[in-house]
Amino acid sequence: TDDIRDDVREVLFTEQQLRERLAEIAREIEAEYADEPPLLVGVLKGAVVVVSDLARELRLPVHMDWMAVSSYGSGTTSSGVVRILKDLDADITGRRVLIVEDIIDSGLTLSWLKANLESRGPASVDICTLFRKPARLKSDIELKFVGFDVPDEFVVGYGLDYDERYRNLRDLVVLQPHVYAPAEA
Ligand code: PRP
Ligand code: MN
Ligand code: MG
Repeated sequence: TDDIRDDVREVLFTEQQLRERLAEIAREIEAEYADEPPLLVGVLKGAVVVVSDLARELRLPVHMDWMAVSSYGSGTTSSGVVRILKDLDADITGRRVLIVEDIIDSGLTLSWLKANLESRGPASVDICTLFRKPARLKSDIELKFVGFDVPDEFVVGYGLDYDERYRNLRDLVVLQPHVYAPAEA
């Protein structure tokens, strides 16, 4: 069999804990954007799961749009070199934008993306991330809504991948070391 749950060493946050925290964040977002619902901008592909759950938790009439940027592909370190692979469909002039991310690691991708969106004349650009790795932050970017801090370990699930796998795990987990560091033959 090929059950992705067999590759899990430890569960950091369960599906239920993630749902409860997202509900708290949703109430904060509803308060912040009571006058003008935001455009949620999900960063493909990791943010697909959190945008999907957050948007359905919100009672505001949000819009959703998506960007794809290249940061570090299947490797494990961020370069800060960013390229837009898919831009927004929407014109954000005068609008309130809320970028939604699964995880902020170095913060380099998001500090670039925030500056890029700010240059388009929106009313505001803020960031919501479900996870943050404080040990690896290299940017002093302001994160308006943060779900959880996570340790500097190889975390996957709930949208986060290792070489495109494990995004569909329901919990946020740490992988077994043999998955990403196979023993030498
Ligand atoms: C991951 C993650 C964030 C980004 C964080 O995406 O989903 O988008 O890296 O890294 P940073 O804070 O160091 O810039 P990745 O590039 O792996 O693409 P993916 O979302 O398609 O998995
Ligand atoms: Mn991503
Ligand atoms: Mg990735």
